[in-house]
Amino acid sequence: MEIKKAQWITPARDMGDLCPVFRRVFAAEKPVEKAGLQITALGVYEAELNGKRVGKFVLAPGWTSYEHRLQVQTYDVTELLSPNNELRVSVGRGWFRSPVPGWDNDGMKKQRFDQPCGLIALLRIRYADGTEETVFTDEAWETSEGPVRFSEIYDGETCDARVKPDDWKKAKILDWPKDILIPQEGEEIREMERIAAKEIIHTAAGETVVDFGQEVTGWVEFTIDARAGELVHFNHGEVLDKDGNFYNENYRGAKAEVRYICGEGKQTWHPRFTFFGFRYIHLISWPSDPKAEDFTAVAVYSNMARTGWLKSGDPLLNRFFSNVTWGQRGNFLDIPTDCPQRDERLGWTGDAEVFVKTAACLYDVEKFFKKWLHDLAADQFPDGGVGSVVPNVLKKDKPSAAWADAVTICPWQIYQTYGDKKVLSDQFDSMKKWVDYIGSVTQTPDLWTGGAHFGDWLSLDAAKDGDCRGGTRPDFIATAYYAHSTALTVKAGKLLGKDMRAYEALYGRIVAAFRQAFPTCLTQTEHVLAVQFGLSPDPQKTADALAEMVVKAGVQLRTGFVGTPYLLHVLADYGHADLAWSLLLRREYPGWLYPVTKGATTVWERWNGIKEDGSFESAGMNSFNHYAYGAVADWVFEQAAGLRHGEDQAGFSELIYAPHPDARVGWLQAKLNTRHGPVSAYWQWEQDGVRYELDTPVPALIRLPGGERKVSPGTYTFWEKHPKA
Ligand code: BGC
Repeated sequence: MEIKKAQWITPARDMGDLCPVFRRVFAAEKPVEKAGLQITALGVYEAELNGKRVGKFVLAPGWTSYEHRLQVQTYDVTELLSPNNELRVSVGRGWFRSPVPGWDNDGMKKQRFDQPCGLIALLRIRYADGTEETVFTDEAWETSEGPVRFSEIYDGETCDARVKPDDWKKAKILDWPKDILIPQEGEEIREMERIAAKEIIHTAAGETVVDFGQEVTGWVEFTIDARAGELVHFNHGEVLDKDGNFYNENYRGAKAEVRYICGEGKQTWHPRFTFFGFRYIHLISWPSDPKAEDFTAVAVYSNMARTGWLKSGDPLLNRFFSNVTWGQRGNFLDIPTDCPQRDERLGWTGDAEVFVKTAACLYDVEKFFKKWLHDLAADQFPDGGVGSVVPNVLKKDKPSAAWADAVTICPWQIYQTYGDKKVLSDQFDSMKKWVDYIGSVTQTPDLWTGGAHFGDWLSLDAAKDGDCRGGTRPDFIATAYYAHSTALTVKAGKLLGKDMRAYEALYGRIVAAFRQAFPTCLTQTEHVLAVQFGLSPDPQKTADALAEMVVKAGVQLRTGFVGTPYLLHVLADYGHADLAWSLLLRREYPGWLYPVTKGATTVWERWNGIKEDGSFESAGMNSFNHYAYGAVADWVFEQAAGLRHGEDQAGFSELIYAPHPDARVGWLQAKLNTRHGPVSAYWQWEQDGVRYELDTPVPALIRLPGGERKVSPGTYTFWEKHPKA
């Protein structure tokens, strides 16, 4: 990459919290044919050429495993160039230099805080006469203080609009590796949607709160007519408390504040180097009478193309579908995060593997996941262990089952949805290393016993109240995922033409050892995993037992992060689709629609984040935008609407259409843009039977209660009498 000819530069003096502005003045006096800027930073940057913003990428260069990989962006700046030019780049702390308050100890905080601010850039200009010129970062660049006085991922941003950069001092060369530089791999993060404020609320506690009506991730843009020096100050919250007052204790150590010291007159501003997960802002200081039209929430996320839509005859379910989609928007900000608001916002591997299938229904996430999986592999420990977060800023060295298994599950799902083996060939070594790792650490051969695991996180069946790990046996989960990861590695290896006999034999041994060690299943999640991962010798019997357990529990789920995503699949696969629907449609706690009845606009971390009486389950761990339980949407696409691809037809080159209609919902429509074209499926429950409509761009196997048949690409309508009618 040509940018490697440039030098890393940094301000000559330590600017502390101030966000430096770098600049270079240069001439381009001949007619320009093409000009391209390659650029990246240690921190997050925004570049301007002659006062005009370069590109649309916000929070560039995004988040990667910076130690190994730092993305370089390339922008076409031909149109921005003039005979006399000034290129300015502001650099905020970003993920590179922001401590993670929820996890870093003091030493780590200091270490992250003390990382250098760095910039590297190269501008190549090709003139119409065929000559070329490059301008690149070196000692000829200058730096100054800018208006941003403080910026940090978790704590927010402070800007003094009165400050103009004018204290230009020579930049100095920074000794920093260049072999970490890689071309941009992921999607750009962009300002994707704008939401006007819904209303201004004056709370009982005397606060002035702006409600945007929707939880988003991003920032607030505001307009104010003010005197120079007046202060705008607000913080962010997801929900109001039971008395209708502002609340954000659940952000824990993330201050999530904005301070803006006004310039003179009418001005519009938004933060640039931070982001927040919020629905409300609390105006701590606002120098005039606030009006809703002064505020816009800007949703910021990876620029993924929408590919999936669901709509039904049940308004609550539709709100839930919307919440799942917002959950993805709010947590796909360059990496898949657990949540966007509190003091972690990390790429938790478990959350990602749980949600990847749903994510790949709703949006085109092929590029997004390929990039993240490269980071996962880059951060994999030398012994093959995989961390709980990627990029692995925690450096925790005890991998947890079902979290670390993202290493096999995510590539496999991306291949399944999009049909390109490249993701498998890229990740294969990493997958295999993980399986080998389990074999090397287990206390019992062919099982995974011992280790430190998150269990069936947040399930409702823990023996001890408040134990987040749930009631499922840790060795059960670990061994089930050992089998699953081994099976996926075998499948991937075979597709890539590798000799997988040793791993096939291992898989056989794991299944046998599993059956011996766990002859019976105890919890709902144990039943789910035994069937879903093909471990039960009699899956029908196990699924029936699961159905019975669910009914006995009062038609209620007890599952957490591990069991929930597969629960409805297992029920519907073995003749209990009715029960699956009952769980999905349940309006009371625990269930997917309970939060909707409580006004949720995104998916909650806990089944009871807000309790019946309006109080909060906890302040310590209670995110209102956690996508994990939204993973049930893949069941709606695949089983309720009936759209899945054939076993060997990754990428939807052939379709299996096997819907599970339900009278209570009335009708359901699913649309999916696949690599082979748009698919659409619809059913409507009528008095005597069900009407089905399918539009398929590929051959499809139709599986309806009345029988099975193959059809060619086209539009079809079927009508079937209710079996009992
Ligand atoms: C995160 C989860 C994550 C978990 C690990 C939490 O703090 O928010 O979503 O998977 O830790 O157990």
